[in-house]
Amino acid sequence: MAKPLLELERITVDFLKEEGPVTALSELSLQVFPGETLCLVGESGSGKTLASKTAMRLVEYENGRISRGNIWLGEQDISTWSQERMRTVRGRRAAMIFQEPMSAFDPVFTVGQQLVEAILQHGEKTAKEAWRHAVHLLGRVGIPEPELRMKMYPGELSGGMLQRAMIAMALSCSPELLIADEPTTALDVTVQAQILHLLQELKEEYGMAILLVTHDLGVAAEMADRVAVMYAGRIVEEAPAAELFERPLHPYTRGLLASVARAGLPRGTRLPSIEGSIPSLTAPPAGCRFHPRCPQAVPQCTQSEPPLAGYEGGRRAACWLAEEPGNPESPGGGWQAEAESPAQRSGDDADRRGSRRLEPAAAFAGVRHHDAGTAGEPGTARVPQPAAGLPDAGHGTRVFAKEAAIRSLSAAAPAAGEPGGSPLLFEVRGLCKAYPFGAACCGGRRAGFLPSTASR
Ligand SMILES: Nc1ncnc2c1ncn2[C@@H]1O[C@H](COP(=O)(O)OP(=O)(O)OP(=O)(O)O)[C@@H](O)[C@H]1O
Ligand code: SF4
Ligand SMILES: [Mg+2]
Repeated sequence: MAKPLLELERITVDFLKEEGPVTALSELSLQVFPGETLCLVGESGSGKTLASKTAMRLVEYENGRISRGNIWLGEQDISTWSQERMRTVRGRRAAMIFQEPMSAFDPVFTVGQQLVEAILQHGEKTAKEAWRHAVHLLGRVGIPEPELRMKMYPGELSGGMLQRAMIAMALSCSPELLIADEPTTALDVTVQAQILHLLQELKEEYGMAILLVTHDLGVAAEMADRVAVMYAGRIVEEAPAAELFERPLHPYTRGLLASVARAGLPRGTRLPSIEGSIPSLTAPPAGCRFHPRCPQAVPQCTQSEPPLAGYEGGRRAACWLAEEPGNPESPGGGWQAEAESPAQRSGDDADRRGSRRLEPAAAFAGVRHHDAGTAGEPGTARVPQPAAGLPDAGHGTRVFAKEAAIRSLSAAAPAAGEPGGSPLLFEVRGLCKAYPFGAACCGGRRAGFLPSTASR
């Protein structure tokens, strides 16, 4: 079996806060293999960003302390390296792109100056070569007229273009590993699809591995070879993507999957949500940290913490009941989706038949949160007419399958004011903290109106 390119081995990260020390990552173990895409998913506050910054040893710049564990980059344990020595790794062997591209650029220097500086830092090119390489990279990530953009300031580029420029910066030294923290969350849906497609292309072209942090299970379904699910500073499940979407072992994963729209659900289905919220890390619950929210908790769960145990097929899960007989096996098992009415159900049989052929991961990949459907009562989302039989797209082309699904879903949903119609809503119940439709977001509910021009 291939050796991991990056391995976080039983990593614990503490912060000293006013209320005392807080263990934000707890015995976290994670592996990224050469050439693969590992998606790290979980609710807001579960520790995804922290895990990725820890891999780059950036957490120490925020007063975090790696108090236990090792970080292996290939054969080397970089957990004890000085920050000076870490500079030989960052950019060259592993690069990171962030959700907010403006944070990576200094507004007072041109994009070209900053790209060239990043390239020159590694000392292999002359200034002229670095400039030419930067122009080439901007062109490669799809920025038109790259020579011209080199001379522009970050504030003069659109969000999508700036995100591309940041990807170009990350690629400037051909890293073996790209860590991308929510790289598309701040972008509109069309640009998101383009950026994801670009990342897929570049991964193959550069032979990179990608650690992709995302709250969006649709993105994970499109992009991931493997998925790791985080909850309250720990990995609770890890599996090859197809297996995870088909048969999640952990109740938390099942809850996440059940709460998002996917192709194949009958029209009008009310999606269940995971009650409650992520616990405070200052005083996490004893035993399994998920037990206060878990519909399957048994007394043992409140007393001792389940280890992240290995299961068949290279899977891991931290649940005492992970492979109990009778453990629900569907993506939503344990979290029941409710169909609206018997009449509605029978009307949808044809749709269900039409979409049964879909692989579970493709069903999620085809329906993203912003096309989730018509508004239900607060706290619910209702699924529109499913896109019967999304194109049977292979890995790397599902982005386009998704666009087809969006068009088909949007056409099928009744408009506001029409019989049975109401304003279009999307909702992911606690999975997201920011949306591209910021102005229309109703913060606490995490729901927003889909712009009418995009939906019709
Ligand atoms: N610089 C910091 N100082 C103190 N605590 C921190 C810091 N960064 C993260 N934490 C702690 O770690 C927890 C996880 O934060 P993190 O940003 O990794 O979550 P996340 O899963 O990336 O969430 P989101 O989806 O909202 O980005 C936070 O709730 C906080 O308790
Ligand atoms: S260990 Fe218990 S509480 Fe935790 S996820 Fe499993 S069943 Fe639920
Ligand atoms: Mg984050």
